[in-house]
Amino acid sequence: MNKIQEAYSIAMNDPAYEKFAGGYVNYGLWTSATKSPAEACHHLVDTLLAKFPERGRVLDVAFGKGVSTKRLEERYGAENVVGINIDPDQVRIARDRGVTCDLRVMDAAQPDLPSESFDAILCVESAFHFQSRARFLAEAHRVLRPNGVLVMSDVLFRTGHGLDPEVFPLENQVSSVDEYRGAYIAAGFSPDSVAIDVSTRQQIYALSAAVAGAFNFFRGRPPGAEPQANESQAFAAAERFWASFIVSRLVNIQECVLVAARK
Ligand SMILES: C[S@@+](CC[C@H](N)C(=O)[O-])C[C@H]1O[C@@H](n2cnc3c(N)ncnc32)[C@H](O)[C@@H]1O
Repeated sequence: MNKIQEAYSIAMNDPAYEKFAGGYVNYGLWTSATKSPAEACHHLVDTLLAKFPERGRVLDVAFGKGVSTKRLEERYGAENVVGINIDPDQVRIARDRGVTCDLRVMDAAQPDLPSESFDAILCVESAFHFQSRARFLAEAHRVLRPNGVLVMSDVLFRTGHGLDPEVFPLENQVSSVDEYRGAYIAAGFSPDSVAIDVSTRQQIYALSAAVAGAFNFFRGRPPGAEPQANESQAFAAAERFWASFIVSRLVNIQECVLVAARK
């Protein structure tokens, strides 16, 4: 099992987490009206897919459990959708969910896909893992058809604060959103075709609330309900896992961004 598989094996397989985040494994996109992590995850993908073309051939990069892939199949037809992921387990998980399109085990930074073969690429909250993000952007530019669009949510993480550099490669660290934008331009996207929305503040505030909600959720009581007597005991292993999973990433967030880059 490689480090990425290890990092995601519980999130991908835990039925409680499936319910918690609606089948996604991402932070979601929060608004003041968002009621749950699952709702935030759906809202994130709705927001990204609003930037997609009406029709065409589309690629889902790092599809996770395949919820976004299923949505692409519904919109474009399974014959027009390809999904890639580094983790073979996630191909099985997505198949179990009913995803029928072409799913391949492939490194997003070295995709074995023909040039100019997609009208749109979706990449939800994953590019910070790739070795490297810059290499992925160049490959995304290569496989897009002229006028094709790359639509992503991404997180600019600080490194050196408890995140494993094999899972969060140091070469993906940037010091500012401007430097981050420069990576798209270096990959071949023209400067006026790269739109970056920064969603950091709303995300961090809401995620902090979500962490508290997560404890309640995994204890089986609704957020806001009175604690039960036995909750003063030490956290169970599962709770410790989720605390470190969510919090270690949360404290290392520099910026959260939504990107649309046109070729
Ligand atoms: C935070 S999860 C996001 C999953 C999914 N997009 C979602 O929103 O639920 C990160 C994903 O990146 C995938 N991943 C990590 N490195 C990869 C690589 N080099 N190539 C392809 N997929 C990769 C992981 O297997 C995982 O599915």
